Amino acid sequence: MTALRFAGGFERGATVTFHVDGAAVRAHSGETLAAALLAAGVVALRRSPRDGAPRGAYCFMGVCQECVVRVDGALRQSCQVAVVDGLSVELRGAV
Ligand code: FES
Repeated sequence: MTALRFAGGFERGATVTFHVDGAAVRAHSGETLAAALLAAGVVALRRSPRDGAPRGAYCFMGVCQECVVRVDGALRQSCQVAVVDGLSVELRGAV
């Protein structure tokens, strides 16, 4: 689950576990949900309503809306949500 993270050079927050469509994903406190998903190899977060193309985080700063997922039952921009233990994430048919 940490294959896409740089090793060493800085201190990470405590390990937290959240769930994506029921599967456990480990991340670090202080990471955004979008960054944690990317680090876990989850790139496609939803599908375009127009043509069904996979969509994923793009700007990582709350502007593009491409990273919207369902978090604990509500649609949220994953780049604006901090990961915490027990977070429940549903992708919207992206995978
Ligand atoms: S990645 Fe653009 S709003 Fe989240």
